[in-house]
Amino acid sequence: MRTARHVPAAAAAILPACATILAVLAVLSACGPATPKSRVPADWTSWRKPVDRVLNYTIPGHGDKARVIYVNAPGWEYAGGAGSGRLEFPEGTVVVKEIYASGSPAPGEKPVTLDVMVKAPGDPDARGGWLWLVKDMASGKETVITTNFCQACHANANSSHPYGDRNPGGAFRDYLYFPPIPGT
Ligand code: HEC
Repeated sequence: MRTARHVPAAAAAILPACATILAVLAVLSACGPATPKSRVPADWTSWRKPVDRVLNYTIPGHGDKARVIYVNAPGWEYAGGAGSGRLEFPEGTVVVKEIYASGSPAPGEKPVTLDVMVKAPGDPDARGGWLWLVKDMASGKETVITTNFCQACHANANSSHPYGDRNPGGAFRDYLYFPPIPGT
């Protein structure tokens, strides 16, 4: 009977300890890498667009799905004073490209993916001064691309290319094919 009395006593001591561990785990998983802070501002649809139409011609890297580009206020403010030559956007500039499920989205349809560039030269994951991100809209998951996959193709935007105004002067444009240009 001695043992029978001791077992519940031991269990009573262990249970609060377990509860504490569970509470600690819950706190860790709430603050830890499982839920990192979003790097894509939620208000991107209120930003100005460098090209005021849906792009749906086929391009390498992004396919033939409909695409809409937005640039946040720091990018436009910088472009306003930059002139038409070399462009080098300030830290905090964000460029969001929405990608839709098809080439011709219905009115009000939401994008399935965001391809995003965030100017963050001091970030160890930045390539060419930008963080290159892909956000899956269904899950909310944001993936930073740390290979040079995105940057290598976007380096072509820093010389003459076949898109938009085609960068006829071949100026360094900070990896943007459609940079914000005052008056556009
Ligand atoms: C093989 C070439 C290629 C690759 C790889 C590529 N892109 Fe692009 N990207 C383009 C082109 C061309 C445009 C011009 C806009 C359009 O027609 O969609 C563009 C436009 C963009 C824009 C709008 C700003 C701009 O440059 O006009 C963003 C943001 C963007 N891409 C993000 C990414 C990210 C993030 C990756 C990697 C996951 C990536 N891109 C990989 C070719 C590429």
